[in-house]
Amino acid sequence: MKKVLKWIGWIAAGVVGLLIVALLGIYVASSLRLNKIYQVQPEALTLPTGDAAVAEGSRQFLTRGCIDCHGENGAGKMVIDDLLVGHIMASNLTSGQGGVGQTYTDIDWARAIRHGIGPDGKPLVVMPSIEYKGINDDDLGALIAYLKTLPPVDQTPPPITVGPLGRILLVGKIAPVLSAEQIDHDAPPPAAVAKGPTAEYGHYLAQTCIGCHGEGLSGGPIPGLPPDPPEPQNLTPDHETGLGDWTEADFKQVLRQGQRPDGSEVNPVKMPWPAFQHMTDEEISALWLYLQSVPAKPFGER
Ligand code: HEC
Ligand code: HEC
Repeated sequence: MKKVLKWIGWIAAGVVGLLIVALLGIYVASSLRLNKIYQVQPEALTLPTGDAAVAEGSRQFLTRGCIDCHGENGAGKMVIDDLLVGHIMASNLTSGQGGVGQTYTDIDWARAIRHGIGPDGKPLVVMPSIEYKGINDDDLGALIAYLKTLPPVDQTPPPITVGPLGRILLVGKIAPVLSAEQIDHDAPPPAAVAKGPTAEYGHYLAQTCIGCHGEGLSGGPIPGLPPDPPEPQNLTPDHETGLGDWTEADFKQVLRQGQRPDGSEVNPVKMPWPAFQHMTDEEISALWLYLQSVPAKPFGER
């Protein structure tokens, strides 16, 4: 009996030991990736000037979802506040105390937004640059011109910490924690796209939708996040589960009022239509034309 207990003791000690080694490994691997230095020097941009450009940049800030994390005033909100995942607050983008606007150059803005890399060369945590790498010079210029006019707010975000679960998600590449790892930093800057009610312009705008609705736009649970319905729906022209039987007016009503053709509400927290309602008619038409042109797929194939 004593011998058996002794063996159990040794096995338990072995398991604990292995667990500690695994955790240490994850800690070291994630720290290396969080502290990796990327040498990325974007080309200089010529920023547009004037009230119209700043107003357009403000619309970009809304419709591209920046306010979800950085707040309407740009001073930053707590994005993840969880013992296991981490404590991650979005940066203060204004020129107030604790804001990056105090020191940022135009190149720093471009590097952070398109590449997901801070001025120190380190990858930005959770900032979804994978969705912004395709923003073309015209829109990025307007966005930066607007960010530089944000009224200063004094707010210093606490240092970002990534907890054990956050590190597992990072090392296992389960969730897109560091956009910088997924972006081709040598790709040429995105080409200009003529604005107008065309499927081509819609394709450009739909970059904002694929993070949630999937690369193929057929929706389904977002990989790396705990299942949390309602799930992003099927936006392809599939007749069963997609928008095959919708009209452009139905689509517009979702983006403007958050209401489906059958009168049901679209969840404003999960689907950021309150931000999309600032899209122009032309943008909505372009998106609609593009969505109608993609291959129909059943729900959930992402
Ligand atoms: C899902 C939440 C989220 C969204 C959406 C988001 N950001 Fe961020 N952003 C963050 C977080 C979190 C950080 C801090 C990352 C860090 O310090 O490692 C950050 C950092 C930044 C930085 C770098 C500032 C610094 O500390 O050096 C800039 C610039 C920035 N965001 C601009 C934007 C703009 C512009 C948009 C919209 C086009 C946007 N962000 C959308 C979460 C977000
Ligand atoms: C942050 C995640 C997110 C983003 C970004 C997003 N959506 Fe959604 N969308 C959702 C979710 C979640 C639902 C389901 C909401 C519900 O059922 O209440 C949804 C529902 C919809 C619906 C209703 C579909 C139906 O069959 O009822 C449409 C239309 C839609 N989204 C279009 C878009 C378009 C166009 C974009 C890009 C401009 C976009 N969404 C970006 C999460 C998102």
